[in-house]
Amino acid sequence: MEEKKIVIASMNNFAKELNRALQEMYNKTSTCKEGLLSPVAIDRGLRLLDKLGYPPDLLEILPPESDGLAFPCANPLIRIISLAPQSILDLGCGAALDAFFCACSLPDLKRLTGLDASSKLLSKGEDLLYHFPAEAEKITLCQGDLNNLGECQDYQLQASDLILMNGSFNLVYDKKKFFAELTPLLTRNGVLLIYDFLLTEALPPGFADEVDNWLWNIGGALNATDLEKVVADAGLKIVEINEIERIDPVARCEIIISTY
Ligand SMILES: C[S@@+](CC[C@H](N)C(=O)[O-])C[C@H]1O[C@@H](n2cnc3c(N)ncnc32)[C@H](O)[C@@H]1O
Repeated sequence: MEEKKIVIASMNNFAKELNRALQEMYNKTSTCKEGLLSPVAIDRGLRLLDKLGYPPDLLEILPPESDGLAFPCANPLIRIISLAPQSILDLGCGAALDAFFCACSLPDLKRLTGLDASSKLLSKGEDLLYHFPAEAEKITLCQGDLNNLGECQDYQLQASDLILMNGSFNLVYDKKKFFAELTPLLTRNGVLLIYDFLLTEALPPGFADEVDNWLWNIGGALNATDLEKVVADAGLKIVEINEIERIDPVARCEIIISTY
């Protein structure tokens, strides 16, 4: 996929620098096989998918070159299958592994759009889908910016029954603007499913002012009260927050948000 620099004139310097650093880091992951970004040893790929309980029969059919290209926060498949959406928007889809797994697991799925800022991970996703034409037929991948969902002219995002964010929500700089742009992308009774960290304690002063502290999904984390406020301001409601793992000052959570 052709490289596109996503930098929007209206963004402040911190947000621009965050976008640049995230794009660089995730583009590098498509060629760097160790850790998330060597030398940091963070689980990724098949090992991580296995640890998070993704079904072995789905992991077995992945081509070997897809190993190392998954960075999910949790396994969303049981929840997604129970919701049985016909249309999905996967925001921060990376190399499209969740997109592919959804297409394999949901017989009634009609369309899935995956959006990510990393052209290199998206290219890996296209390579993966090339092996599976039946699933690929339902999936469209596009490069775009979560911080400017409303501003991209290269594609038209359609409203979907389910919006999935598996490890990408805490990388969004301005959550209020994000929710305002996201809400029209949910169908009536649509669900936003987030897997990410919530704060269980306040972060040290100044922690969130460092771009590096955002790259691993902590600097941009909210506590449950602040999340509830920004969700309510957008006219949405939190249905459930399920704590998967607590590692104070954060908890890895499943967050289910719906329209009223
Ligand atoms: C933790 S990874 C999760 C990827 C994928 N959901 C998975 O499970 O493998 C976060 C993803 O968010 C993407 N991302 C980060 N900032 C973004 C932005 N501003 N716009 C679009 N995608 C972004 C990264 O490129 C990366 O693919």
